[in-house]
Amino acid sequence: VSILLDGVDEYIKEEDLKECSQKASQIQKKLLEDKDESRVLGWRTLEESAVGLDVMRKKAEEIRKMADVFVIVGVGGSNQAARAMIEALKEERKGPEILYLGNTLSPYTISHTLEKLEGKSVYIDVIAKNFETLEPGSHFRILRQWMRKRYTKQEMANRIIVTGTVGSRLEEIAKEQGYLFLQFPVSVGGRYSAFTPVGLFPIMVAGLDEREFLNGVLTAMEDCKKNDENIAIQYAAVRNLLYQKHYDIEMLVSFEPQYAYLEKWWVQLFGESEGKDKKGSFPACAIYSEDLHSMGQYIQQGVRMLMETVISVGKPHYQVQIPSDAANLDKLNFLAGKRVDEVNKMAELGTQIAHVDGGVPNMKVCMPALTAQYIGQLFYFFELACGISGSMLGVNPFDQPGVEAYKNNMF
Ligand code: PA5
Repeated sequence: VSILLDGVDEYIKEEDLKECSQKASQIQKKLLEDKDESRVLGWRTLEESAVGLDVMRKKAEEIRKMADVFVIVGVGGSNQAARAMIEALKEERKGPEILYLGNTLSPYTISHTLEKLEGKSVYIDVIAKNFETLEPGSHFRILRQWMRKRYTKQEMANRIIVTGTVGSRLEEIAKEQGYLFLQFPVSVGGRYSAFTPVGLFPIMVAGLDEREFLNGVLTAMEDCKKNDENIAIQYAAVRNLLYQKHYDIEMLVSFEPQYAYLEKWWVQLFGESEGKDKKGSFPACAIYSEDLHSMGQYIQQGVRMLMETVISVGKPHYQVQIPSDAANLDKLNFLAGKRVDEVNKMAELGTQIAHVDGGVPNMKVCMPALTAQYIGQLFYFFELACGISGSMLGVNPFDQPGVEAYKNNMF
């Protein structure tokens, strides 16, 4: 995974970027050496993250064989990373259908999901760090009741997996009922939990290659540690400089609808980490080219406060050719023989030129292909960049005190 910065050249002076990158590099060093356990920095290594890999692999294999449906119950950091990967790598997926619950309080979603479960072999993974969130809590209760009517206690014990912290109510429930308990490391916050059992177990059930994924994470970890000009530092420095110049909104965009949940994961990571103390650029996302026909107008000519980061993937999963047409009634024969992905790449290039000309600085995060390995690199790169960027801003990127306000009112 690499980063291209030619779309910010005319917005940032070289000497400013150099100075800001040096600052970002010092912050990275401090961050990677920080020993303060209260700062939930367990995501910096894989030591604590990947506990219980063998147990997870065995259970995931059983679920792949036995389940028709696997329901992931969790919200925010407790489901986004797994969902991002599962949705992005759809064509590599094996095993049961995967559904998501407990990420909203929608009566529509829960009732339709329960309908879909009818007559199927169902396994569930309830992920909640401290089990103090109403969305997954209430949905777990509804699912337990649904399962009680269809399975024996023993069967339920086999079909329910819970992922929480040691000492949480979820762990107590697991012990009382005999559910498999997976550890959500205390030292890792939800949105930084992609490479812990929170993200790993669901992707194993989905038949994605967790070894390849962890390998990607490790590659990025090592590169970022050694390299003073790594992509996390560059990205954090550029977005910080642009923010200082009042580019208050950053849009993460891609040209592939399958990446929508990757973008959602990024929105959470940066939104919850940086939006504090009345600071932080507002993270938004879009899927082009569809959204170019709606938000595209604003992006090109609205208030100049937007910066744009494109996730650009080299090799497409599918190659579909546009055919020649003898009658050429639509006058589109100039496209004949071109692949849709080639046209999509031209849309990407055309958009970059238009937006940079129109006053939108543009960064490009390039992935050679969309694989578990590169997603592992991408996740670590963004997590580290977010830690650096939030620290540069002067906020704590690892807490989320603001999330409690709505919860308290709701309670
Ligand atoms: O990043 C975070 O910490 C949050 O988004 C949490 O993941 C989210 O609020 C869900 O919390 P919990 O796992 O405790 O249900």
